[in-house]
Amino acid sequence: SQKGEVTIAGRKYPTDSWMNTPPQILSAVARKLHLQPDHPLTITRKLIESRFPGYKYYNDLFPVVTTAQNFDSLGFPPDHPGRSKTDTYYLNKDTVLRTHTSAHQDDTFRANASAGFLISADVYRRDAVDRSHYPIFHQMEGAHMWDRAQHGGNIAAAARAALAQLPRHDVAVEDPNPTVHPERNPLQPEHTLEEVEAVAAHLKRSLEAVVVEIFSRARDAAAACGDAAAASEEPLRVRWVEAYFPFTSPSWELEIFWQGDWLEVLGCGVVQQQLLKQGDVPSQVGWAFGIGLERIAMLLFNIPDIRLFWSQDQRFLSQFSESRPVQRFVPFSKYPECYKDVSFWLKGTSAAGGGSKASVQDFHENDVMEIVREIAGDLVEDVRLTDEFTHPKTRRRSMCYRINYRSLERTLTNEEINDLHGKICASMVEKLGVDIR
Ligand code: PHE
Repeated sequence: SQKGEVTIAGRKYPTDSWMNTPPQILSAVARKLHLQPDHPLTITRKLIESRFPGYKYYNDLFPVVTTAQNFDSLGFPPDHPGRSKTDTYYLNKDTVLRTHTSAHQDDTFRANASAGFLISADVYRRDAVDRSHYPIFHQMEGAHMWDRAQHGGNIAAAARAALAQLPRHDVAVEDPNPTVHPERNPLQPEHTLEEVEAVAAHLKRSLEAVVVEIFSRARDAAAACGDAAAASEEPLRVRWVEAYFPFTSPSWELEIFWQGDWLEVLGCGVVQQQLLKQGDVPSQVGWAFGIGLERIAMLLFNIPDIRLFWSQDQRFLSQFSESRPVQRFVPFSKYPECYKDVSFWLKGTSAAGGGSKASVQDFHENDVMEIVREIAGDLVEDVRLTDEFTHPKTRRRSMCYRINYRSLERTLTNEEINDLHGKICASMVEKLGVDIR
């Protein structure tokens, strides 16, 4: 039924039964917020770029990539959940909207872009609806390489020399992990421990410097608008935690303590040698990271809702300028919220006691999220599961989602909300085959 063709920025792609990308997502490809002058994402991007002088910057790579680029080249196994249609926007079986900027690692290593590169781009993921998730967001990928052929076969000394050139900071960082761990975070057979210690130190200090810089700008902005509490708040707390990515080892995530919680801001690690071999640069060794630009921009400008980045309202856009010091975002008044519930039965029945005769329909929450976005777009603030049960006699499964309608820009009318909600219910019947209660 989905056979046909889509055109994205003048390029044509055949579609097949894998096609699950709605028109609003396709039309947003043209927005390129990270390139829009004076946009908070552009300001954030340039601020981070300024911490990596001499790197090659790629800021306009096309978002449609092959599953080979997005997954295979990076060592994702064939059954990795990230490949599923519920998580990823497909155009056809072999073609997706990139889910991360790492999709360009392989090509960029192959292009042998000098010592280091940064790739900033829009990325696409089917996901929850709430104030910190949006199906399109922006990432910056960074990598830095050293060539063993130029360093007597071992890059440790060169990486340590580069480390000595990095700006220093005085923030105490929590990092209790050993650089490598045989099970959790192994050394690659091609590397020496000495090399990895030096590369890891260069990687971590480089990224800490970015975070320290962002925080000092955010604090200056708070002080400038007289928020003494925010300006003098407890010192910045940053910690490294061990992580896993198929394309780096060892790997880590950096977390920042923010508003009472640890917030993950980036993933990184020592590049898998397999990628460099595949890119015909086997004598290079180095690190890579991927940072979420919205999260950093939310910290930098104190922006409370991720939908705001997409706003075309001057009350939002006029608050940011590349030629002024960072200023805190001043929210326009919050418009009233209005929530409505949708309760429904799934098709089929589940066996008593969770036995093996269950035949309840295959259900993915992201499909509900997608329908809500398709119909109500940015007029919904969040969608949450509020109730779920299996009827004791009929064994049918029921679920209830609460949809919170609120515009960032105006007060919605009851009529308008009823109309949207009615359309969402109808679409759930049509597309998911559920029975509304
Ligand atoms: N691509 C990873 C993500 O989106 C982040 C990452 C980039 C991790 C580069 C390691 C190296 O989660």
